[in-house]
Amino acid sequence: MTLRVGVAGCRRGEGFLAGLRSLAGKAILTSVYDPDADAAQRFAAEHRIVTAASYEQLVDTVDAVVVASPQQYHAPQAIHALESGRHVLSEVPGAVSLEQAQALLAACRRNTATYMLAENYGYTRPNLVVGAMVAKGVFGDLYYAESEYLHEMKSWHTTPSGAPTWRYHWQVGRDGHTYPTHSLGPLLSWLDDRITAVSCVGTGRHTDPEHVISDTVLLLGRTARGALIRTRLDLLSNRPHLMDYFSIQGTGGAYEAGRAGEPGRVHVHGRTPDNTWEPIDRYVEEFLPEQYADPLDGSGHWGADSWPVRDFVAAIEAGERPPIDIYAALDMTLPGLVSEHSIAQGGAWLAVPDPRTWTAGIGVDPGREAPLT
Ligand SMILES: NC(=O)c1ccc[n+]([C@@H]2O[C@H](COP(=O)([O-])OP(=O)(O)OC[C@H]3O[C@@H](n4cnc5c(N)ncnc54)[C@H](O)[C@@H]3O)[C@@H](O)[C@H]2O)c1
Repeated sequence: MTLRVGVAGCRRGEGFLAGLRSLAGKAILTSVYDPDADAAQRFAAEHRIVTAASYEQLVDTVDAVVVASPQQYHAPQAIHALESGRHVLSEVPGAVSLEQAQALLAACRRNTATYMLAENYGYTRPNLVVGAMVAKGVFGDLYYAESEYLHEMKSWHTTPSGAPTWRYHWQVGRDGHTYPTHSLGPLLSWLDDRITAVSCVGTGRHTDPEHVISDTVLLLGRTARGALIRTRLDLLSNRPHLMDYFSIQGTGGAYEAGRAGEPGRVHVHGRTPDNTWEPIDRYVEEFLPEQYADPLDGSGHWGADSWPVRDFVAAIEAGERPPIDIYAALDMTLPGLVSEHSIAQGGAWLAVPDPRTWTAGIGVDPGREAPLT
């Protein structure tokens, strides 16, 4: 049966179309909902699909929804779809509050439909190669990892007429790491780990002090396996962007992504000559997983946007857990939410809850009604 897919939110919704087109026979885009009726009409005409008059109507007419609306709607829209038996591929982050996160987890547990977070930064070519190298033990035991998302977005916070957009409140209207999944997602999947505690500090407001967020926010995370993570978020400073910086250190070597367009580089202890680096490209042939070898035409974020929707549909077809299920999604999302409390307390180390221990959605007899994980 071909899966009928609907998109909520047409601007970012575009990002999934290359992947969807490649799934002909397995999945087909049938409808779109966007409260901006003109945008929805344009999108529908261009892709020869229908528009839905409401989000609820969209859900009623499809088997799966791509939730690509502004962040604050991700969890409520995902919950509605899951409770209606529809599969959900959600844009990032999974939720904007602990309450939303708990309600989302409950909906995932109560229903059998698939939920996947469309975190795409783990699907860039260098990150796929690094992930495969980590999995094969090339870097030994990992104990330190870094990432940076530096993206000057001042013009995105208000409309041309000066009205605040959703980003005004949800991304720069709070202090802390308000956009964590791109930076934490790849690191946590490489480490196969979760963050148990965070400490968050910021520079304070300098470039565009109207906003609550610090120009630069630094989040330190301690993981369950004892590794240390450092990640930097900067949405305001005047500088060229650097959204995809990652590095890792293990007992067997290190990886550093390129900065400012340079290629990434690795040092593999015992293979790379001492005190030198090798370009990551040298490892592509040996390590790039075959199914991700050729990004699809027109897919954004360095080709990464090709893959989440393909993995989502494959998981539904196989009846298996998707690569970024609700627990992985919350592991990438919750440190950012807790960081807002830490930064307010001068960088205090605060525990990050483990969603696997939450009781949301398990009923009163978890053994019988629903498993904890
Ligand atoms: N994974 C990535 O690389 C990536 C990149 C960009 C954006 N995003 C995420 O995608 C989401 C959308 O971002 P954007 O850049 O498209 O924002 P945007 O503000 O440019 O566009 C949002 C669109 O959603 C529509 N919308 C508003 N309320 C809606 C609702 N209730 N239901 C459906 N649609 C609604 C708007 O009319 C608009 O067309 C955000 O959550 C953002 O974090 C992810």
